[in-house]
Amino acid sequence: MPKWLDNAVFYEIYPQSFMDSNADGIGDIRGIISKLDYIEGLGCNALWINPCFVSPFTDAGYDVADYCTVAPRYGTNDDLKTLFEELHKRGMHVLLDLVPGHTSVEHKWFKESMDPEENVYTHRYVWTDSIWESPEGMNNIRGISQRDGCCGVNFFSTQPALNYGFYNKTRPWQMSPDDPAPTATLDAMISVMRFWLKMGCDGFRVDMAASLVKNDEEGKGNIALWKKVRTFLDKEFPEAAMVSEWGEPDKSLEGGFHMDFLLHFGPSHYNDLFRCDEPFFSKRGNGSIAAFADTYKKNYEKTGGKGLICIPSGNHDMDRLARKFDTGELKICFAFLLSMPGAPFIYYGDEIGMRYIEGLISVEGGFGRTGSRSPMQWNDGVNAGFSSAAFEKLYIPIDPFPDRPTAEKNINDENSLYNEIKRLIRIRQSHTALQSKGKIEFVYAQENAYPLAYIRSDDREKILVIINPSDKECGFDFNGAGQELLYTNGIVKISEGRICASPQSAAFIKLDRVHI
Ligand code: BGC
Ligand code: CA
Repeated sequence: MPKWLDNAVFYEIYPQSFMDSNADGIGDIRGIISKLDYIEGLGCNALWINPCFVSPFTDAGYDVADYCTVAPRYGTNDDLKTLFEELHKRGMHVLLDLVPGHTSVEHKWFKESMDPEENVYTHRYVWTDSIWESPEGMNNIRGISQRDGCCGVNFFSTQPALNYGFYNKTRPWQMSPDDPAPTATLDAMISVMRFWLKMGCDGFRVDMAASLVKNDEEGKGNIALWKKVRTFLDKEFPEAAMVSEWGEPDKSLEGGFHMDFLLHFGPSHYNDLFRCDEPFFSKRGNGSIAAFADTYKKNYEKTGGKGLICIPSGNHDMDRLARKFDTGELKICFAFLLSMPGAPFIYYGDEIGMRYIEGLISVEGGFGRTGSRSPMQWNDGVNAGFSSAAFEKLYIPIDPFPDRPTAEKNINDENSLYNEIKRLIRIRQSHTALQSKGKIEFVYAQENAYPLAYIRSDDREKILVIINPSDKECGFDFNGAGQELLYTNGIVKISEGRICASPQSAAFIKLDRVHI
């Protein structure tokens, strides 16, 4: 695993909404470069940038039309190269977003593959051999060319599925992953990876990584596919970092990924924390952490105690954390997010409490996700400092409320969410036990009960983390002694065999003795 992942704290940038450098109303790479001081100032040392490649943007760029060219609206390949260089000068790193499962219908491979005459791209996508047969279990495109067949799609109807083969073949048109056409598809994707890694990119966040090989319920075909990618990386780019959108770390890590996301879909119970009717992190205190912790423990064991699981504050697909939580609640969320194993991912704007913008008309296939993708609010200037374009030209309307949070207000207020997060990151960065590979042991994670407590440790130290999101005082029996309070928000005490946490509190306590 690349050494820098040990203490990486990521910042996710949705490029169209971060910073517009040329007044066209849309964020761009030069804009990102101009804000690196801000990101570094917060303490983040790594970026994940959503797809920034040529695309018709029917799914905000997750419909790639040319994998190796930056979309003109964001700048040029040279601008991206400059971003890599600027980051490296600061000791920072960057993951690009690799979308290997599908392309846009406008990709030249797909255009060729629609041709009824056999050619190199005929089997690049998942096509049935008759217009009357749909691929089972998939939506599809049909009747758009003279080719006699239906093409499976992965997400929107504009995103035809690339052909990596079928693990269990049930129809004659289905190929095995090792057949020549699926092998050529994987080779083509490996060339894309090589292209960006050579230019200086540090790795990839991989979109829908579990879905490439079809009819693969147990994930064996996809694990085997990613192992081939691992062989390529070990040989040519051993320092490249790979983070998967998979949601099942035991499988993705076996496939050679370094880390996997817990997500709003899949079996992780991530939604129990922040995004269900009674989330654990609400001050109402009616949530339950038990199912999340149990699943986490199982994954932790299945990954051989590596637990390289990334828990994001949110992302471009989920509701903003601030849709349901106030600043006090958000501070407790981040005490948790920044003290768990794996690398934390902060979605741009979450650090200043940016809100979900209600009632927006969908932009570029965002639908309900559009409200989480609005322009970053930098200051009280025109368009919140995001762009000097006319308001109507902005990619997505900005939060219209006059009391909207901004980076500037946050930076200048000692008690802001931003400054709390900055402190938390600093503490994480100075204690290896709190970083990616430090061990975790849950001490208190009970059904319908508060607080949550766990010990992070490595061979240097043991740190007890206590998290009480509820607005009630609570506690649990604990037979150990604390030595130094590394972080506190509220009052958390250890005395006479008991931990007592004041309403809405969090603390990190260095332990000198512990008997549990
Ligand atoms: C991305 C989404 C995208 C989808 C299809 C994902 O999971 O995060 O934003 O719409 O894949 O590519
Ligand atoms: Ca721009």
